[in-house]
Order: sequence, then C-alpha cells, then structure tokens
Amino acid sequence: MEHAPGTPDPAQHQRLLIVDFGSQVTQLIARRLRELRVYCEIHPFHKVDAAFLRDFAPEAVILSGGPASVPDEGSPRPPAELFEMGVPVLGICYGQQVMQAMLGGEVRRGEGTAEFGRAFVVRDRETPLLEGWSEREQVWMSHGDHVSRLAPGFEVVATSPGAPLAVTADEARRFYAVQFHPEVHHTPGGATLLGNFVRLAGFRGDWTMGAYREQAIEAIRAQVGDAKVICGLSGGVDSSVAAVLIHEAIGDQLTCVFVDHGLLREGEAEEVVEMFRDHYNMPLIHADEQALFLDALDGVSDPETKRKTIGRLFIDVFQKHAGAVGGAEFLAQGTLYPDVIESVSFSGGPSVTIKSHHNVGGLPEKMGLKLVEPLRELFKDEVRALGRELGLPASFIGRHPFPGPGLAIRCPGEITREKLAILRRADAVYIDQIRRHGLYDEIWQAFVAILPVRTVGVMGDGRTYDFACALRAVTSVDGMTADYYPFTHEFLGETATRIINEVPGINRVTYDITSKPPGTIEWE
Ligand code: XMP
Repeated sequence: MEHAPGTPDPAQHQRLLIVDFGSQVTQLIARRLRELRVYCEIHPFHKVDAAFLRDFAPEAVILSGGPASVPDEGSPRPPAELFEMGVPVLGICYGQQVMQAMLGGEVRRGEGTAEFGRAFVVRDRETPLLEGWSEREQVWMSHGDHVSRLAPGFEVVATSPGAPLAVTADEARRFYAVQFHPEVHHTPGGATLLGNFVRLAGFRGDWTMGAYREQAIEAIRAQVGDAKVICGLSGGVDSSVAAVLIHEAIGDQLTCVFVDHGLLREGEAEEVVEMFRDHYNMPLIHADEQALFLDALDGVSDPETKRKTIGRLFIDVFQKHAGAVGGAEFLAQGTLYPDVIESVSFSGGPSVTIKSHHNVGGLPEKMGLKLVEPLRELFKDEVRALGRELGLPASFIGRHPFPGPGLAIRCPGEITREKLAILRRADAVYIDQIRRHGLYDEIWQAFVAILPVRTVGVMGDGRTYDFACALRAVTSVDGMTADYYPFTHEFLGETATRIINEVPGINRVTYDITSKPPGTIEWE
C-alpha cells in the first residue's frame, strides 16, 4: 500500500515487536506501550520467522506469556535469530521460560513452585529494568512451570517465594526475563518496568494517537480496497468513532445506516443525523422505523421477548436498507478489545478460546459480509482519545453508554407509547440536572426507568394517580461491576421536585442504590 504524502508514515517510527504466545493479556502489553508512546505490533509466534524479523526490523522485542508448557514437545518457540539481532528482549512468563530454554537454561514443570495471583518479589541487585522499584514489590503471577537453571550470561535480579528467578537479566545483551505479568494492573510497578525497558532500548516515545489514526486508515484502505462498506450507526461512541475513521479512510465507499426504533432518548435521532449527515457529510440512511418496532412491542412485558423482538426487527430493517447500498462487501462494527478479550486472540494468535464472540445479531453471517473492525485493538478510553483526535465533539465522545434495545429495557412491564413519552421527558430532566451540577463526567451511566406501578399523590388541591420512576446512576470502569453514585440529598430532592413538576404522568421519584453485582445496571 502506497503511503499518502504528507501523513506520518508508521514505518518511520521506532518499532517494537510483541511475539504472541497466546496469553489472554498480550493486548495489555500493547496498551501499556501505547501509553508510553511506543509503536508496537503484536504478531503470533508462528508468523515470526527470520525473514519476518529482517523486514520488521524491531528495535526491541517482547515475548508474551501463553498457555503452553516449555518442557512439552512441540511447544512454541520464536526463531533463534531473534536473539542474534542485537536488540533488547524482554520475556514475560512463558516468554521468559522459552527464552531461558533457548539460550541454554532449563525449565521444569511443577515441583510445588506454581504461583497464581498476588506475590511479592524482593530485589537482590540493581538493574536499569527495575529503576524506581522499591526493595519489595507486589506482582501478579500465573505460572505452573519455572526456570530451574539460568542460561549462561544471566544473573538473578529479584526473587519471589515461588519463583527464585522472578527477574533475571543479561545486562550485556540487554536480555531481561520476568516470571510475573508486568502488563496487568495487579502489578502496580509494571508500567514503570515496561517504561524502563523501552527507555533502555532507546525508544524516544514518538508514537501518538495521531500516528495510530494514520496507521488505522492505511489498514482500512488495504483491507477494503474499492469495495463498499456499510456501518450500523447507533450514535454511541464506539460506532461513531469507527464510522468517522472509516469515512476518513474510504470516503463515500462507506454508507451508515441509523435505525430509529422509537426507543431513543429525547432529541437523539436528530442529533445523530445532523452530526453525521450535515457535519461529516457522510452518506447516511436514516431508517425511521418507529411504527414497526413500537407496534411489535405494544403490550409486550417479558424482557427476553423485548430483546428478541428488537434484535430480529433490527436485522430485518438493516438488511432492507443495506440492500439499497448495493453490493456492499463489508460490515463495519465498533467492536472494542474488551469485547474480544475472552474470545479468539485478536492477532489471530494461538490464545485459548474461552467463549466465542457474538457478532451483532449474527448479521455478517446472514448477509455474507466480511467484517471491518478498526477499534478491535483498543480500550474504551483509547477509543475516546481517537475520537478526540478525529475531531468528534467532546460532548459526543463523553456520552454515557446506551443499550441497543434502548428505552425498552428501561420500561419494566408493558411497553406503551405513553410510557415511553413520559420516560423520555423524565430522562431529559434528570440528565439536565446532572449536567447542571457538573456531575456528568463523573458518572459512567445515568438514566431513568419508568416503573410499572401507579401511586397516589397530591398536587395543588387535587389527587394524582400517576407512574413512579427510579433514577439510576452508577460509577464503573467497564460496565462489568458498578457502584451507585453517591448523590447528595439536596441533589436528589431538587431532581425529584423538577421531575414531578415538569413531567406530567410522574408523581413519585425513587433512587436505586443497588450495586452490580448483585444488581445489573439496567433494570431488565
Ligand atoms: P447490565 O444491565 O448488564 O449492563 O449491567 C451493562 C452495560 O451493558 C449495557 N447493556 C446493553 N447494551 N444491548 C446493548 O447494546 C443490550 O441488550 C444491553 N443490555 C445492557 C448497559 O446499558 C450497561 O452499559
């Protein structure tokens, strides 16, 4: 692929190679390196041979962990040439063991030295790799095998109870080997260690999100060629960033389909259409299918039936409109790394499949489309950084997540148009309150659920008999676990008053203080 003049060429950056032996956390190594502004690529071990190394010309190499066992016959190995390039190498866990075994050391299985989880390593001597570490540091271990004899040239730098050779170094060749995982959060000094490694390897930290963007654009062009791509745009951050990036890469070869199922929030459809069609000038099909969805959902109360009905109709509608694009070969999705972290290793490497990933509604198989997933390597905060880089407005990038089935799952019990209209109003007032108090960015997700119960109230001199609603606001890192947000009583009181005064149909407001687990974030 020819490089566009005037744009940064990824080939000009210093490059670090990560050889993937199939660890579930290999991608975290890449993430930590991006934080250090180091350009890296992950390649599965079986694709890395001597010719590949010559072409790639890395200035340092990291060997990842993995599920295999070095003493087993046929266990994965990098090519011997890797250790003859004169560049620094860091072996992590399996990578450490394979490195020791190939350089003349010995690896043994078991013998009571397995360690899983938190451990402490104690430093015996100084090394540039551990600069900034205290004498005793917490690390995350996950190993059954261990190195039983060091390769010539290596010295022990730090030990742990289950890994007498927790950190070893051959300073002359700049080869380092660690038994623990520096890339995970449970190794608090891990980022420092990786920072030391890239510094001693001479990396200047010249890699930026701007460069990532250019590289991603090149990759999209190379994958798609002159074929057409369709993208289901939800207005959420992930699909929006994916669409803008792909549009930048291939322009009008991309058509977005925005399905308005009548379960969106106040003003949402207008906002999305205006932004993408008018501001970004993208070919956008605005499929107004409110009647179709709402008729099908009218009176439906079972949560699973709601989800299935919406999913089925979404596919029908998407297919109908995608047909208008004519000859699309690719479907773009805003899949993020956490979506694939438990499925097949993203680099096509050998990681153990824990669960297979569900593509949205099975669309690609049904339509015979290939996938374009340009955010597959990124984490949510990186997607937001990329969105900023692409010039998406901050208000869009910082938006709370919104589920595909929309307001349907915030309307426990029967769905009716009347309840949806009330919910939409109440939600708008609640979010406005949160914004006015400057709390929006502290909260992972906030919304109102309209409850399937009417309660008695008194307003003025009259009796009311209206719906109750629940406010929900949670903090979270990834949506997997969550805590309720500790609003002040003043905030809650003021918000309840506003909702009751401004939203006809609601006369009682409650606040949901359930964490996840045991609750979920949504009510259905
Ligand atoms: P729960 O309710 O499972 O939600 O704690 C965790 C996160 O996922 C979102 N969510 C969904 N997103 N389709 C989606 O696209 C769904 O069916 C769905 N259900 C929940 C939820 O909003 C929260 O961010």
